[in-house]
Amino acid sequence: MSKLKNKVAVITGGNSGIGFGIAEAFKNEGAVGAIVGRNQGTLDSAAAQLGGNFTAINANVTDLADLENVFKETAEKFGKIDVIVANAGAGTTGTVADTSEADYDNMMDLNLKSVYFTVQKALPYMNDGGSIILIGSNAAHRAYPSFGVYGAAKAAVIFFAKAFSNDLLNRRIRVNVITPGTTDTPAFDKFVPAEQIEAVKTHFASVMPIGRIGQPSDIGKTAVFLASDDSSFMLGAELLVDGGMTYLSK
Ligand SMILES: NC(=O)c1ccc[n+]([C@@H]2O[C@H](COP(=O)([O-])OP(=O)(O)OC[C@H]3O[C@@H](n4cnc5c(N)ncnc54)[C@H](OP(=O)(O)O)[C@@H]3O)[C@@H](O)[C@H]2O)c1
Repeated sequence: MSKLKNKVAVITGGNSGIGFGIAEAFKNEGAVGAIVGRNQGTLDSAAAQLGGNFTAINANVTDLADLENVFKETAEKFGKIDVIVANAGAGTTGTVADTSEADYDNMMDLNLKSVYFTVQKALPYMNDGGSIILIGSNAAHRAYPSFGVYGAAKAAVIFFAKAFSNDLLNRRIRVNVITPGTTDTPAFDKFVPAEQIEAVKTHFASVMPIGRIGQPSDIGKTAVFLASDDSSFMLGAELLVDGGMTYLSK
C-alpha cells in the first residue's frame, strides 16, 4: 500500500481521535511528517505508535506564531509539504441565551480562525499540486442543542474548502472537506460522564442509519483518498462520512 509514498503531511490534532486515525492511515500508505497538538503525553504516545514516520510538534493552533513554527520545522526536517489536514477542533458552548462573548470567541478561534491561519501559514512551505483537507461536522447541517456556534464555525469551514480552492488554483492545490458524523473518539470523554460513555455510544449507534458510530479509521480512509491522486479531479468538495446520520432518517 503506497498511495502516499514519499508524501510529507501535517495533521493538526494528530495525537487523538480522528486526527490519529488519519495519521495511522497516512503512515500505512507511506507518508511521513508531523502531528500537532498541545498534550505532550498523547503527542509522545501517538508518535511512538506511528513508529517514527511522524514527528510530534507541541503547538497551539490558535497561536499564529506556533503555526508558523509547525510548518517551518516540518519542512526543515522532511522537505516541502504535500498534504495538510486541519483537524484540530472541539464542540459545544451553550445556547444563544447563555453563551458568553469569551466562549463564543474561543469556539470560533479554535474551529474557524485556526483553520484559516493553519492553511495560510502552511502555504509557503507547500509543494504546488498538494492537497489540503479540512474537517467539518454534521453539526454544520443540523442543529443540535448547545452546538450552535460550533455548527456555524463548521459550516464556514465547509465553505472555506471552496474559497481556498479558488484562491489556490494557480498553485494546483486542491482543498476539500470531510464531514464526519458521530465518531468514536476521546472527545466523548469531554461531554459525557465516564460511567455513561458506553450507554451514550450504544444509543448513538442505535439511531445511526448504518447501525454503528464511526471509527477514526473510517475518516482515515477518506483522508487517504483526498490526499492522493485518486481524487485529482476534486476540489472544493465536501465528503459526508457520517453513516447516513445527516440526511437519512431511520
Ligand atoms: N468525534 C466526533 O463525533 C466528531 C464529529 C464531527 C466532527 N468532529 C471533528 O473532528 C475533529 C477531531 O475531533 P475528535 O473527535 O478526534 O476529538 P479529540 O479526540 O478530542 O481530538 C481533538 C484534537 O484536537 C487537538 N486540539 C484541540 N485544540 C487544540 C489547539 N488549540 N491546538 C492544537 N491542537 C488542539 C487535540 O490535541 P490536544 O488536546 O493535545 O491539544 C486533539 O488532538 C474536530 O475538528 C471535531 O470538531 C468530530
